[in-house]
Amino acid sequence: MITRPMRLTLTAALFASGCGGGGTKPAPIPPDPASYANVSAFVTTHLLLDLTPDFATRTLSGTATLTFDRLDPAATEVVLDTRDLRITRAEVGTDAQGWAASPFTLDPATPAFGSALHIAMPPGTNCVRIAYTTSPGAKGLQWLEPAQTAGRVHPFLFTQAQAIQARSFIPLQDLPGVRIRYDATIHTPPELVAVMAAEMAVAPGEGRGTYGFHMPLPIPSYLIALAVGDLKFKAMTERTGVWAEPSVVEAAAKEFEDTDKMMQATEQMYGKYQWGRYDLLVLPPSFPFGGMENPRLTFATPTVIAGDKSLVSLVAHELAHSWSGNLATNATWADFWLNEGFTTYIERRIVEAVYGKPRASMEAMIGVKDLEDSRKTIPGPAAAGATTNVARDRTLLPDLTGRDPDDAYSSVPYEQGALFLSFLEAKFGRERFDSFLRKWFEDHKFQSVTTAQFIEALKPMMRESPVVTDEQVQEWLHTETVPAFAELPRSDAFGQVERAASAWRSGGSIDALATTAATWSTQEWIHFIDSLPRKVDAAALTALDKRFGLTGSRNAEIAHVWFRLAIANHYTTAYPAMTDYMTRIGRRKLILPLYRDLAATPDGLALARKTFASARAGYHPLAQDSIEAVLKSQK
Ligand code: BES
Ligand code: ZN
Repeated sequence: MITRPMRLTLTAALFASGCGGGGTKPAPIPPDPASYANVSAFVTTHLLLDLTPDFATRTLSGTATLTFDRLDPAATEVVLDTRDLRITRAEVGTDAQGWAASPFTLDPATPAFGSALHIAMPPGTNCVRIAYTTSPGAKGLQWLEPAQTAGRVHPFLFTQAQAIQARSFIPLQDLPGVRIRYDATIHTPPELVAVMAAEMAVAPGEGRGTYGFHMPLPIPSYLIALAVGDLKFKAMTERTGVWAEPSVVEAAAKEFEDTDKMMQATEQMYGKYQWGRYDLLVLPPSFPFGGMENPRLTFATPTVIAGDKSLVSLVAHELAHSWSGNLATNATWADFWLNEGFTTYIERRIVEAVYGKPRASMEAMIGVKDLEDSRKTIPGPAAAGATTNVARDRTLLPDLTGRDPDDAYSSVPYEQGALFLSFLEAKFGRERFDSFLRKWFEDHKFQSVTTAQFIEALKPMMRESPVVTDEQVQEWLHTETVPAFAELPRSDAFGQVERAASAWRSGGSIDALATTAATWSTQEWIHFIDSLPRKVDAAALTALDKRFGLTGSRNAEIAHVWFRLAIANHYTTAYPAMTDYMTRIGRRKLILPLYRDLAATPDGLALARKTFASARAGYHPLAQDSIEAVLKSQK
């Protein structure tokens, strides 16, 4: 049953978007090695989806209608990206009329990129309508059993399109250089609610089985997102709110209540928020990321609901992407640092504005440590079987030829990128650099941007005040270390923690430590645990654990660093809680290092394998793949 206002909206949207795009000539699309799309001939301008999830077969099926700007009148076919899709029919038309079946072929799949779908396009045609079904193992979908949800009654489905998983649930031009508007109709079982990162064509709670969505602003394919489950909405302010399972929604709204303040702080620095509403969707704990910046509707892990807002820099981060990433988008995945480095820098600026400088400095310092640790895990130039220079993953400019961009994922683009921008801020001064960034977003909104463009944009400021050299800029991009001239977060924020830690380690009492630690924040606890030597004697670990209940910590980040210390010391008291954590949580950043650490010793590896065997079915396909790779690399 479709409600009247929704039918009107969808029809209106369809006509408004038209078919054939029209308007101004688009800029040429930067070539992307991760896509098969023939973007020099056809560029998608609009997508229309009509999809139905089937929880029994774990498939999504329906139609995708794509409208193109035809750049090459002589082109005879359009090539789209797909992965594990079953295509049942392709039709072509002109301006959404005269639909006629058209021959199509699917190339054999490659593991990195999936299969190219070729559809014949007779002269003058500019639209395709494709009927298809996804596969139960689709990399961009996770289907949850009721037992994996908070409510334990209803199943749940969510998508994760970044970087190149959109093609596993929609046949499309799957590259960040192409921007599309879209409309969607999603049919659900009547007891479930569908949400998308778009405008909802019905008021919350009104859908009952059919939901309409409209994204009027042009977005890259990796920002298309859908979730279906037993969801409730709670408003936080006029323009912010949370979606979550009913038993989670109150706690989520409390935890994230500062979201509007964060938006105001960001708008103050970098200009108006362009996307209308900003809501958060809290997913079940198997969500493989901390957060995903889907426009208007950030997807977030429930593991940041700590009860004390101590992990909400994640919201600052995903919100920051509303400027860096969603407005000015990395043109290809090799420019990923333009998304994540900028966003990490802005995240810290938001945290500073809303929670103060000490917390922002602490998080920046934790970031520098992550950067150093993470770089160590990236293989060197002579990595076995490497056909590209994998060591470039240690720099801001990886070589992604022939690789799934997610294989290059690490803290480097985040933290090295953020340090680069902090360096520029320190050199040019905050006020000047802020207006530079504000202009950067204004000049590049709804566009794709390359590293070369950013370097070009810096030039006038560098000429006006010669405080930064070309060599320094080049070093930031190409070096495998933090440059000697970097402006590292210098602060005494952790001084007290470090003094207390060393007093305790040189024989001080646990009571004295407890007195100091009574006021520690999450960040201080993380630093304390991380700054302990990797070998701590069993009695000391036991004493810490008894006194502070670290094994039973309800804070997922504190538990994470504690479990790593436990593994390093074979502190098996923590293991039952740890394997429970590894089974309950699917967030890759929290569990992958535990698997990796465990895999370093034979009995650890055995435990890792055993844990994975029982947890695997509950993990997202991307997490399954990463953990399998870690366990396989051990004999
Ligand atoms: N866009 C990323 C997540 C992502 C990156 C998904 C690449 C797929 C491929 C998101 O903004 C992000 O960076 N999330 C972080 C949290 C953040 C606080 C650093 C995460 O999930 O850990
Ligand atoms: Zn990010």
